[in-house]
Amino acid sequence: MIVALPSLMMAEKPPMALVLGLESSCDETAVALVDNNGNIISHHLATQEILHRPYGGVVPEIAARAHVERLEPLIRKVLNESDKNLTDIDAIAATAGPGLIGGVMVGLVTGKALSLACNKPLIAVNHLEGHALTPRLANQSLNFPYLLLLISGGHCQILLVQNVGVYRRLATTIDDAGGEAFDKTAKILGLGFPGGPAVEQEALKGDPHAVPLPRPLIHSQEPHFSFAGLKTAVLRAHQSGQYKRADIAASFQQAVIDCLVNRSQKALKKIEGEGISVNAFVIAGGMAANTAIRPALIKLAEEHHLPLVAPPPWLCTDNGAMIAWAGLERFRLGMIDGLDIPAKARWPLDPYAEKARGAGVKA
Ligand code: KG4
Ligand code: ZN
Repeated sequence: MIVALPSLMMAEKPPMALVLGLESSCDETAVALVDNNGNIISHHLATQEILHRPYGGVVPEIAARAHVERLEPLIRKVLNESDKNLTDIDAIAATAGPGLIGGVMVGLVTGKALSLACNKPLIAVNHLEGHALTPRLANQSLNFPYLLLLISGGHCQILLVQNVGVYRRLATTIDDAGGEAFDKTAKILGLGFPGGPAVEQEALKGDPHAVPLPRPLIHSQEPHFSFAGLKTAVLRAHQSGQYKRADIAASFQQAVIDCLVNRSQKALKKIEGEGISVNAFVIAGGMAANTAIRPALIKLAEEHHLPLVAPPPWLCTDNGAMIAWAGLERFRLGMIDGLDIPAKARWPLDPYAEKARGAGVKA
């Protein structure tokens, strides 16, 4: 069902709007200032890789404390670099979930404080919507509806993006997310943290067909994902001592690519079967920064007579511009939030989606 939302009257050039975006849902503290023409006026990001590396993954408590220390200096830096002060800004957008709740609370409460102090509207942004709308920041001619493969560290979904705030989830993962599988594979192979880019680099030196690995769910009717079995197969291959590390990394990455292509094809056929046409096949989220996955997805999109739209890698992984942009898309539709809006650890984009069957299904 396509729900009509009030749309901007585009006959006249819309007035300039500036939105400040704050992101703190995982291990990146990020701030950006974006305008409604898609200009990223300034953006800064403080990564916490060094803090979490000894633990091989993100420690929520450490992440939240680091956001407290880093957010305010980053806001100052972005405003100074843009030669703006808070009175020049039209709205404050902050991630309100889903994510590690301590970090989300730090960013959201900071956004509320700025909103209250400067009398500017607050926009509570769903982090997933940040990823889902960023392709429209990177490519201003991308119109709704589009089919989105959203592949991050916490989520692996296929969504029909119908409008701002209007999503239909066609698929999700029944266990791990794709990025999570990259991170776990990196840990098994001793490639360190963060795992995705490390596996991509190691895979460059290996043979993608050297290690037989499963392609979970590729015969299932619904386009859902599963990566837990693949991770276990990687562990077994590594423990067998039969294979080179680079060959395991390359074969793992190839298995993931095959699953993404197969599942996306199923989703494209599903919407075609329902008579729904889309303007593009779009990828977003941290794993979409992987350059090896793009050629296979371009080919798939071409087979369905669609362009593949993918933001540049730095806009795929978490950043402040994606939150500022999603805030801007909401702001120009009048979607403003009250200061009583809660932080949410879980916050599905499509609350009406049918539950996927399987253990540990993610929203
Ligand atoms: O979107 P994101 O920055 O944070 C979440 O919202 O989860 O995604 C982070 C995930 C991590 O699991 C990371 O390993 C993965 O994206 N990732 C990659 C690459 N860069 C980041 N996975 C594969 N290849 C990459 N180059
Ligand atoms: Zn993310």
